[in-house]
Amino acid sequence: MPNSNLFAKGRAESRIFRDERVLLPEYLPDVLPHRDREISGLVAALQGAAEGEGSENVLLTGPPGTGKTSTARYVLRELQDYSSRVVTLYVNCWEVGTRHGVLTRLANALELVTPRRGVATDEIMERLAEALGKSGKAIVIVLDEVDRLFAAKYEEWRVLYDLSRGNELFSARIGLISITNNEDITAGMDVRVKSSLVQRHVKFSRYSPVELKDILRERAKLAFLPDALHPEVMPLCAAMAAKRGGDARIALNILWRAGKLAERENAGQVSIEHARRVRDEVASEQPTREEIEPRLEGFEKKIYELVKEKGEMTSGELYRLLDASERTAGEHVSRLEKLGVLETRLLETKEETGGVRGKTRLIFIKGKGK
Ligand SMILES: Nc1ncnc2c1ncn2[C@@H]1O[C@H](COP(=O)(O)OP(=O)(O)OP(=O)(O)O)[C@@H](O)[C@H]1O
Ligand SMILES: [Mg+2]
Repeated sequence: MPNSNLFAKGRAESRIFRDERVLLPEYLPDVLPHRDREISGLVAALQGAAEGEGSENVLLTGPPGTGKTSTARYVLRELQDYSSRVVTLYVNCWEVGTRHGVLTRLANALELVTPRRGVATDEIMERLAEALGKSGKAIVIVLDEVDRLFAAKYEEWRVLYDLSRGNELFSARIGLISITNNEDITAGMDVRVKSSLVQRHVKFSRYSPVELKDILRERAKLAFLPDALHPEVMPLCAAMAAKRGGDARIALNILWRAGKLAERENAGQVSIEHARRVRDEVASEQPTREEIEPRLEGFEKKIYELVKEKGEMTSGELYRLLDASERTAGEHVSRLEKLGVLETRLLETKEETGGVRGKTRLIFIKGKGK
């Protein structure tokens, strides 16, 4: 199609990018290198839904930037393409953090007409149950950042209970995919909730430098003009992101910014110097520990201070000292990890855990671990 729009004409031709949007975080690529196992796990769990039947509820966990959201969205897209017998819905619980909000989104996805204001949650629930019973379709719902719901009152996270028992409550086939950074989210969860929420657990691990390079390569093919990248740029971005937690988001961000910098300087090629110069920008987007420290409140402040005072402690010790449930404490630790002030490591050997079974973690101040 000839591009005759005035603004398209007015836009300067880039010497670097073919299509830089491909590097932005919202872009969902056509291939997800090194996520075959995770994708197959999800597909197996949702096979029933594809045929309009019931499916397994799945929990996806793993560190930031390891492809959980992308994998879930990727599989939803495939599922929606494949079958007209399923309705899919993606909800980010940081944006929609209440039972009312989640159920309203579901009602909208099913094109149920609900009055704008003042509908009681239970009424939405009833209307949903009725509509779902009639529709004969399967539903798959992704609840991303689901820990957000757990951090809320029981009233809010009860929605997980509602949905995970879709069959009984709605006589509908609902598949739930919950996503969180917190591996221990099920600790201390009511066993019945746990067994219905987590019929399959798919764990995502940090990407290695080689894996990051493959991810970048696929994206760069579409994003950059031929020869716009010095051959050492991608390996360097991959190495830098591997050092920062094997996070693909960071790798892509460095690559994109390096491209922007080269473009601003009217360079013919993105050089490793460009990548080195933007690395610090990307790093400084993350506020430092010193900046975060004074802003911590409540439980988080308390946990941080305890860990700081002791140097390091196990999760078990922390729960006892806080007098909080394992899940509540785990939630806050996970948030502190995300903020970049704490780090944890799973203790594996019997010697390390002092013979305690289960998932004990060592918690320490970020960057101060042994
Ligand atoms: N295997 C992959 N192939 C291509 N791109 C990937 C892959 N994994 C991650 N990405 C890209 O990295 C970025 C972060 O991925 P994503 O948002 O899926 O991570 P996440 O695990 O959900 O992280 P968080 O826990 O912070 O939400 C996205 O831009 C995504 O496109
Ligand atoms: Mg995510």
